[in-house]
Amino acid sequence: MKTRRVEVRTKRDESKYSISVGESLLPESGRSLRKVVGREARNAFVISNPTVFKLYGDSVTDSLRSAGFDVSAFLMKDGEQYKTLTTVDAALVAMRDAGLSRTDVVVGLGGGVVGDLSGFAAAVHLRGVRFFLIPTTLLSMVDASVGGKTGVNSAAGKNVIGAFHQPDGVLIDIETLGTLHRRDVTAGLCEMVKHGLLAGNGLWKDTLKILKGGEIEIGKDLAELIAANAEFKAKIVSGDERESSERTDSRSRKLLNLGHTLAHALEMVTDYKHLRHGEAVGHGLKFIAELSNSLALLDKESVKLINDVVHRTGLAPVPAGIDPEKVLAAFRSDKKQIGGSLQMILLKGIGKPVIRRMDEIPLTSVKKALRAALR
Ligand SMILES: NC(=O)c1ccc[n+]([C@@H]2O[C@H](COP(=O)([O-])OP(=O)(O)OC[C@H]3O[C@@H](n4cnc5c(N)ncnc54)[C@H](O)[C@@H]3O)[C@@H](O)[C@H]2O)c1
Ligand SMILES: [Zn+2]
Repeated sequence: MKTRRVEVRTKRDESKYSISVGESLLPESGRSLRKVVGREARNAFVISNPTVFKLYGDSVTDSLRSAGFDVSAFLMKDGEQYKTLTTVDAALVAMRDAGLSRTDVVVGLGGGVVGDLSGFAAAVHLRGVRFFLIPTTLLSMVDASVGGKTGVNSAAGKNVIGAFHQPDGVLIDIETLGTLHRRDVTAGLCEMVKHGLLAGNGLWKDTLKILKGGEIEIGKDLAELIAANAEFKAKIVSGDERESSERTDSRSRKLLNLGHTLAHALEMVTDYKHLRHGEAVGHGLKFIAELSNSLALLDKESVKLINDVVHRTGLAPVPAGIDPEKVLAAFRSDKKQIGGSLQMILLKGIGKPVIRRMDEIPLTSVKKALRAALR
């Protein structure tokens, strides 16, 4: 299979990097990394977790060594609850002990949790060292590895501590998806449905083609679609790298929050334990479809289609017993509030997002849509 390349331009420092998508790329990771960091990088510091490292650590570290890197590794515990400053601190100590210098590189090997944490460690070690990302979950391939947002959770909230730190390169080996838990496949598919809904046209049609109840065929079509998703996100992000608060146009980075108001609220009221982030997004998309319909923006057929498509990701129903009032309260604490009001991304059709202030939307419509989405 031919490797696809997506070039990402980063505006702020006018650099660019590429995302490679293909098969059997892990054994090539050393060579790929050498190409982007040049000869002066001596140390490659791998950050991963035991689950992923057991599966793919040898392949990556062997390849890095063959390309002349001195390799050290730090394995964080597996789970969102370890995406914390405490873990970053431990990683930074290990990086210092490994003698990681300004010209060296951090390699993040894992899903979005490892990606966010390793990117943040790379952003703050010596005020910023180079960073190479090898995402191994579908969600991190199509979403978390694009855009340069890195960070950790804290008592102040989820992802509130962070930095923008663009990678020097991203390597996506779709074969790693073969070992992914089915629910993590669903989670990634839900973010892909989100991109399809925002983009419409080809991306939407190609997304529909691969949806088979949470199963994916690992091959050419999937690689192409992952590349198209990364490209779509990269395009939006490069035009609005820091998510400008004023923008409400059709290229604003805010659009990527489609379905995320409810998603964040559901994650919060279920203590981040019962739902994958991407699964919560799937429910969030159903909510947005209902809400857009109740505001006379979106027709019934589109609502039905969106519900059906979300269902075809293999998404399980919302956990029972969620109190809609608690969800509404959680909306109010969303960090995406701007000027005291939450902005909601709604749909006028497939591929036709619009941004509305939450305080302009009648509460009765919100409640009605919420009941439908929690059903
Ligand atoms: N930076 C961004 O722009 C951005 C965007 C979206 C999400 N995120 C973050 O991403 C995180 C979610 O990422 P995620 O959904 O990838 O979850 P995750 O990183 O927790 O991975 C899910 C599970 O799959 C395991 N795993 C990873 N790759 C595997 C493989 N190939 N085979 C078998 N198991 C594998 C992991 O060990 C973990 O148990 C959240 O913390 C979220 O905040 C960041
Ligand atoms: Zn998301």
